[in-house]
Amino acid sequence: MYKYDHIDQTLVDQRVTQFRDQVERRLNGTLAEEEFRPLRLQNGLYHQRHAYMLRVAIPYGLLSSRQLRTLAFIADKYDRGYGHFTTRQNIQFNWVELEQTPDILAELAKVEMHAIQTSGNCIRNITSDAFAGVAADEYVDPRPICELLRQWSTLHPEFAHLPRKFKFAINGAKEDRTVLLCHDVGIELQKNPNINNGELTANIYAGGGMGRTPILGSLIKKDVPWQVLPSYLTALLRVYNRFGRRDNLYKARIKILVKALGPEEFARQVEGEWTQLHNATKQGKDNFSQAEWERVAKHFTKPSYKTLPALSDEQLQSHAESRLDANEKIAFTRWLERNVRPHQVPGYAPVILSLKPHGTAAPGDATSAQMNAIADLADQYSFGELRVTHEQNLVLADVEQAELLNLWRAAKNYNLVLPNIGLLTDIIACPGGDFCSLANAKSLPIAKAIQERFDDLDYLHDLGDITLNISGCINSCGHHHVGNIGVLGVDKDGEEWYQITLGGDQGNDASIGKVIGPSFYANEIPDVMTSIINTYVEQRSTDEPFIETYRRLGVIPFKEAAYKNNGKHSKGAAV
Ligand code: HEM
Ligand code: SF4
Repeated sequence: MYKYDHIDQTLVDQRVTQFRDQVERRLNGTLAEEEFRPLRLQNGLYHQRHAYMLRVAIPYGLLSSRQLRTLAFIADKYDRGYGHFTTRQNIQFNWVELEQTPDILAELAKVEMHAIQTSGNCIRNITSDAFAGVAADEYVDPRPICELLRQWSTLHPEFAHLPRKFKFAINGAKEDRTVLLCHDVGIELQKNPNINNGELTANIYAGGGMGRTPILGSLIKKDVPWQVLPSYLTALLRVYNRFGRRDNLYKARIKILVKALGPEEFARQVEGEWTQLHNATKQGKDNFSQAEWERVAKHFTKPSYKTLPALSDEQLQSHAESRLDANEKIAFTRWLERNVRPHQVPGYAPVILSLKPHGTAAPGDATSAQMNAIADLADQYSFGELRVTHEQNLVLADVEQAELLNLWRAAKNYNLVLPNIGLLTDIIACPGGDFCSLANAKSLPIAKAIQERFDDLDYLHDLGDITLNISGCINSCGHHHVGNIGVLGVDKDGEEWYQITLGGDQGNDASIGKVIGPSFYANEIPDVMTSIINTYVEQRSTDEPFIETYRRLGVIPFKEAAYKNNGKHSKGAAV
């Protein structure tokens, strides 16, 4: 894992001092709220419905156990004993006091963390595959590039005031686990013997995003050598900085520019800018050097794995057989099936800890007790590191297969082993109207009601892979556009309504869901879900996942079922 050098450390320490002074001036009245607002946002501090909310960056989702313990400590000392992991690999604290935020930042700085650029119209936290470095389907470990780009983008003076916020995602595996095409820029890394002599290169996708106008990113350039990523991305951002619609907040994201120009013309302009930049900087002065690569990449070498035999699921189950009673055996087998993934190294497995216990806590919330327990588990079973997934769960990446049963037992005590990963109740949900001042409707009670309705694990496992995502407003923090089933909170005449989309998908076949019709009342949503799910069960062919049944049949049968017994009160067209 990357370790700060004195430059990184000085930078975050100076930020704490600056912010302490800014907060003091705000508190003693010498700084007005309008003046303070951009300063606090540059440090990830929002003012929300009930209190200040602090968003802390977890670059490419990688955390040490020590950092997680600090997050637990902050949750206890400065918040209400929990934190909320988000879809962009950040953590949010919802109840912080303004006067205490400099102290929180100081605590974070002690463990090489900060909240810089987690808000504002700049390059936000760079996200990546939660299984980076261990995924069995990985072409290349994306983390050194993530880190190089993190350093390149942090407090980059030219890109501190972009037309709107800017989000990068970086993937290096066959399966896209980063929602690459829903980012302003998606960087797909590859190491292919047929391209550039097997050197690391990147395909660049631009202009994706959710929100009011959901669009999937377009391929802008193939096979960019890793060394020139800074100058290529500089050129791309310059084109956006110059032509992005600063006059209209709703049209200011790069997706609107790429759409308006067309991907080919946008790519042509970037290419032109890049050529000039190249000439001006004497062929790549601004680019990454081999020495820089080596400085950073040495932090991402493999941990000291043992030489172990690879165990099959059957071997793991029979190993557990004698040590578990019948009920435990079912639970453990399901957990192996849903929460444990293949690893690059024989005898090891990445494990997903579910932060989606049915109906008891908001999706993505972890209590300080859970965070401390997970830090201990990381130390004991996974080289002291863990990851945050964009689905709002946590991952222990390097668990010895022979230790899976012990880990499962230990994590069970903290309600972290629900075997629902990828199932209907593994819901992505934004904080919605319970916390967010932009919300049109609540999302957390909707998630809870759906989890309560579908709490039979046998049935959930029979349904198989289905994603259900909920956003409290069109900003789409809960990724509803790319859920197989999406729920969007809308406001009509001051009341909370919910619009349903179907057919969204993340991953290699990403698609944007379609609105099925007028919105529903909150209390209708569990019944609407039941109608949609029953239609799937009736219509599916053997082993056909929900999304494929939907793609085969289209929206009509699902829509008819959803409105047959529900939506009686729905009024007006969908928003
Ligand atoms: C509570 C404070 C929050 C505020 C004020 C806020 C604000 C916003 C806004 C204004 C947008 C729309 C941007 C656009 O015009 O496209 C947005 C989108 C987004 N936000 Fe949030 N958000 C909040 C919380 C969250 C949380 C909790 C998450 C993760 C669970 C999150 C992750 C995202 C993501 C992934 C998008 C996707 C849309 C895109 O980038 O195209 N935000 N947010
Ligand atoms: S989707 Fe809307 S309600 Fe939900 S967190 Fe984002 S801005 Fe707030």
